[in-house]
Amino acid sequence: MQIDVFTLVPHAFAWMTEQRPLAAVLGTELDLRLFSYRDFTPLRSGQVDDDPYGGGAGMVLRVDVVDAALQAVYGDEPPRRVVALSPQGRQLAQQLVEELAAEERLCLLSARFEGFDERIVEHLATESVSIGPYVLSGGELPAMVVVDAIARRLPGALGSEESARVETFSEELDRGAEYPQYTRPAEYRGWRVPDVLLSGDHGRIETWRRTQSRERSLS
Ligand SMILES: C[S@@+](CC[C@H](N)C(=O)[O-])C[C@H]1O[C@@H](n2cnc3c(N)ncnc32)[C@H](O)[C@@H]1O
Repeated sequence: MQIDVFTLVPHAFAWMTEQRPLAAVLGTELDLRLFSYRDFTPLRSGQVDDDPYGGGAGMVLRVDVVDAALQAVYGDEPPRRVVALSPQGRQLAQQLVEELAAEERLCLLSARFEGFDERIVEHLATESVSIGPYVLSGGELPAMVVVDAIARRLPGALGSEESARVETFSEELDRGAEYPQYTRPAEYRGWRVPDVLLSGDHGRIETWRRTQSRERSLS
């Protein structure tokens, strides 16, 4: 899969590319390309944004700058899904992550300050996506959230394929919550791990886990 992120701060992604799951799939299952709008702007001095028409605070990312960047990278063949990251977009959920992960190519557009000139959202993007009902200062963290959520679904990203198959929001758990997990020590300050998990009886453990998952999903 190829994911392209357009941003004003490509170096913000450096930390992420060194960590699993991204590091495990970069160069094999995932080609992550980071583009700076400033490298493509037709304006002088690297200008990418401008004052809002009608007045008001902040700067708005220009449509001609984003168009120039997309044209330079894709010509007339942009990916099927060009996602503008915006607090006003469709809220990200696991099913949307799975949809996006099924694409061969994906483009993420991020903005800063006052956000996008609306014509970018209307004409250059195919959709807009929000990572939650709150406003962040820029689209870099949202882009990283989307990339991480997709990357961990790619083959080889996690130590075990089982981790992504059976986890919170997975089909395997009817899109509900995962059961509680425990590790050693079996008892700590009087807090004991449930006996069933120490029983070695895989049938009982499985039943207990399914029940726990269902109960947590209802609450
Ligand atoms: C300060 S925000 C702009 C907010 C915009 N003026 C508004 O009121 O809707 C700057 C940029 O950060 C990104 N951003 C902020 N919050 C986001 C969220 N919850 N989900 C996705 N992107 C977000 C978007 O790219 C946005 O254009």
